[in-house]
Amino acid sequence: MASIDLDLASVEPGQAIKVSWRGKPVFARQLTPAEIQQANAVNVSTLRDPQTLAERTKPGSEKWLITLGVCTHLGCVPLGAGQGEVRGDFGGYFCPCHGSHYDTAARIRKGPAPKNLEVPQYAFKTPTSVTIG
Ligand code: FES
Repeated sequence: MASIDLDLASVEPGQAIKVSWRGKPVFARQLTPAEIQQANAVNVSTLRDPQTLAERTKPGSEKWLITLGVCTHLGCVPLGAGQGEVRGDFGGYFCPCHGSHYDTAARIRKGPAPKNLEVPQYAFKTPTSVTIG
């Protein structure tokens, strides 16, 4: 299966980029310390799809949140990857199709989506470059 290399060096804290992988959008976000704190402050047992930020990132690279940009409701592309984009009530991503709000760990918090944004298989090659797939 095809994999892609992604250079994250130009992605500033608080920003996300959108790339295409196997015909699907992928979001790569550099979380700020505040966004990491916000994600870690959540009581995971209250979540619809309970996962910690650590479970959704790589050890030592927790600030890099890499997910598919595909809403788990009916597959729209959520907003939030790109400067000035709407990020919803929980500061992560917002799907405008039917109003799903994802938090700073891209976990579903409000709206009809049943699951968190999916984390694809990936591995870091250097601190700022990853291979997805
Ligand atoms: Fe995202 Fe329905 S497809 S809320």
